[in-house]
Amino acid sequence: MISQKTIDEVIDTARIEDVVGDFVGLKRRGSNMIGLCPFHNEKTPSFNVSPSKGIFKCFGCGQAGNSVKFIMELEKLSYPETIKYLAKKYNIQVEEDEQPVEFKQEQFERESMYLLNQWVLEYFQEQMLHTEEGQSVALSYFKERGFTLETIETFALGFHPPGYSVLYDAAIKAGYKPEFLFKTGLAIEKDGKGIDRFRGRVMFPIRQQSGKVLGFGGRILGNDKKIAKYLNSPESEVYHKSSVLYGLFEAKKAISNEDEALLVEGYTDVISLHQAGLKNVVASSGTSLTVDQIKLLRRYTENIVMLYDGDSAGIKATFRGLDMILEQGLHVKIVSLPEGEDPDSFAKANTADYLKDYIRREAKDFIAYKTSVLKEEADGDPIKIASMIREVVHSLALIPDQVLRSVYLKDCAERLDTDEQTLIFELNRQIKDNQKKAYSREVKDNHEVHLPESLEEEIAQIKQLPDLGAAMPQEMDVVRILILYANNIVPFEGKTEEGEDADLLYRIGDIILHELNEDELFPEDPVNLRIFNFFAQAAENEFPKDVFFLHHQDEEVSQRAINLTSSPHLLSENWKEKHQIFISSESDLSKKMILTAVYSYKLRRVQNMLKELNEALSGEQADDEMNASLERYMGLQNAKLELAKQLSYVIL
Ligand code: CTP
Ligand code: MN
Repeated sequence: MISQKTIDEVIDTARIEDVVGDFVGLKRRGSNMIGLCPFHNEKTPSFNVSPSKGIFKCFGCGQAGNSVKFIMELEKLSYPETIKYLAKKYNIQVEEDEQPVEFKQEQFERESMYLLNQWVLEYFQEQMLHTEEGQSVALSYFKERGFTLETIETFALGFHPPGYSVLYDAAIKAGYKPEFLFKTGLAIEKDGKGIDRFRGRVMFPIRQQSGKVLGFGGRILGNDKKIAKYLNSPESEVYHKSSVLYGLFEAKKAISNEDEALLVEGYTDVISLHQAGLKNVVASSGTSLTVDQIKLLRRYTENIVMLYDGDSAGIKATFRGLDMILEQGLHVKIVSLPEGEDPDSFAKANTADYLKDYIRREAKDFIAYKTSVLKEEADGDPIKIASMIREVVHSLALIPDQVLRSVYLKDCAERLDTDEQTLIFELNRQIKDNQKKAYSREVKDNHEVHLPESLEEEIAQIKQLPDLGAAMPQEMDVVRILILYANNIVPFEGKTEEGEDADLLYRIGDIILHELNEDELFPEDPVNLRIFNFFAQAAENEFPKDVFFLHHQDEEVSQRAINLTSSPHLLSENWKEKHQIFISSESDLSKKMILTAVYSYKLRRVQNMLKELNEALSGEQADDEMNASLERYMGLQNAKLELAKQLSYVIL
């Protein structure tokens, strides 16, 4: 373990502009520096470096962090590797501690899980390649499926021997703790012993883009319909299946080079296409496509080609996926495969040249694809045709870029044999509809506070509220003010020692802590809570400054701090304008700003509590419970009105 002293020294020495400057040409702009983002493709620079804060942030793709994070992401190194890398650059001697002091427990756990997973990957390879059973059962299975040794090596495929606890016993013998075998889901705890999860399956390691092993997929040998064909690692601290793309580690270079990604469904689809020479391929495997997966892919390319099965489940998945991709502002094309083929079988049956040619020839943009599928379904029925038009326009309305939208619109009119004006009309209607929905959600969430005449009216009103969700924007704003201004001093009304009202000087941090403590209100979001606790603990001393958080070792804390502090104007001005949220603005670092933020936050939390309570009130309750609930309801109701009043005093 690298000593804290070395880590501190490296972080103090490694100037962000210097570290980034090794990879990115930077130009000065005001107090910041700007260049082309190394994390995504761009032609106009949106990659910002702030030497005074020691951080970078890309306003194009959202990547942000300090110098350590920059190297970790760009060079795909672990934390300790990055510290060593930077230490070398600056000739700092690396001290290693004997004990893992003060290392965050969670981080330690994650590292342990990665270590175990890596060992297990190698164990599976060993079992397949160098045991008799492995060779005759697993290796021959893969070979039969047409995978070459090179492919097997590239994807680190392996074999989990059958038996009750073969892997578990081997791992324990190799010195790994039971705890991590359970946490990774490789084994299941039963009566104090471990049972292997993936017994007797061929194994597909699932790796992060950096190569870290997150989990495994295991397939049965053969085609027994009674057993689940694939088993996957369960969700864990290191494996979040909705934000992982299978094959990205193996594909990321090719995706960047070709500026295009092929998206398929399964493990074997990825592997076969890769082996056929189409290496820019990833799978959402084991889940339907998620927004996180699309965002992950966007780091490498904006062009996505979907290769999904042509059955009706496949078409449904494709429709859903392509709307999500459009909404993220990416370009999407769809390739339909011949009847009965999946990418795996199709890749096996054809040469690389044919495959590439087929994809180029058959790739349809989403309009062509949707219209051709729907036209066939509608089969001339005018009612179905009308709903088809709405369906296609639905996708159009999701495209954020207006110019692109109108280009597509023309194409759409032609394909649907409709006149363009009709489509424009429908498009505008849907866009307006979407906006109205989003707007009324926000307004109801944040702004309008009617004064109800009676409890019944109030309950009825609350019932109509859409799900409020967490009080996130408001909570973020409070935490942001703490990070940036806790130590600043402002005049505020209070009482002198003689008990007279007067403007006294307070630290902003103390005011906020006092306001929240008074109502026993603590942040709901766990990262916000961690940040908040640093302030709560420091109340007697100086509050931690923004740099403390920006460079904090807890990566979630540093990411949050960077995101909250690096785009204040974007946040406050736009949000206020657009959504009528009372988010404070930097320009008036004053009582008004602080109270606006704190009261908005409290009000939102109270609204949420009312909503929850109302749900409880609708359910069955004993009489005395009911009375207690009602009492609490009235209390919250009063608090809400009081807060709304105070908020309007402050704002007006
Ligand atoms: N999948 C899964 N669990 C299952 C079935 C499928 O996680 N019980 C995931 C796997 O990632 C699989 C993908 O969904 O690769 C697609 O499933 P399917 O088309 O049924 O499998 P194939 O990839 O065609 O697998 P194979 O060719 O080995 O039969
Ligand atoms: Mn298949």
